[in-house]
Amino acid sequence: MIIQNAAFVVSNTNPSACPVPDKPEFAFIGRSNVGKSSLINMLVNRKNLAKTSSTPGKTQTINHFIVNDTWYLVDLPGYGYASVSRSKSYAWGGMIETYLRKRENLATTFVLIDTRLEPQKIDLEFIHWIGTEHLPFAMVFTKADKISRKQTSVTIEFWKKKLRNTWEELPPIFVTSAVERQGKDELLRYIDEVLASSD
Ligand code: GTP
Ligand code: MG
Repeated sequence: MIIQNAAFVVSNTNPSACPVPDKPEFAFIGRSNVGKSSLINMLVNRKNLAKTSSTPGKTQTINHFIVNDTWYLVDLPGYGYASVSRSKSYAWGGMIETYLRKRENLATTFVLIDTRLEPQKIDLEFIHWIGTEHLPFAMVFTKADKISRKQTSVTIEFWKKKLRNTWEELPPIFVTSAVERQGKDELLRYIDEVLASSD
């Protein structure tokens, strides 16, 4: 897939105020600071289309970006950020849960996982939830530049084992680095395939 253009459309906290669902969309979710916004920028060859920060909790709203005038990328706030107040984290849950469950044009949700960490409870819980909701998802391991290939494959095997305890079928898995631009072609090819199958 060639990215011809990408543009910011709208940012909001009300899932029902999202753009008219007449184009397929792909959402990015995962713990705060895992690299969601950076991955979106890598995919569309832009440095700062989605706002990034080294401080967790940067993205607080549902952000729609339109790509090639035909599909949406959606940058979501992170979960599991300890210093977000309890009431705010409930608000997160409500907003994101509603978005994910109600968004009829949601083609795939990419769940981002920090490659450096062992499976975290909050990620496992989220994946369990998304699976029980029958929402199509794929797993994206991020920041692969920070550890060796060997360690990356150990982490992924560990994850697969965990997931096989609950699920018969494993989701598609991608390994990425926004710094080294790793995994970009694979992700775009996957998006292309999903778009072709939803025609
Ligand atoms: P929130 O919006 O706060 O939930 O975070 P996010 O998941 O959108 O993360 P963001 O893209 O803002 O990146 C967080 C930090 O990780 C920034 O300092 C990025 O530069 C850094 N980062 C993101 N991706 C990578 C990567 O692939 N490799 C390395 N080394 N750093 C990365
Ligand atoms: Mg972000």
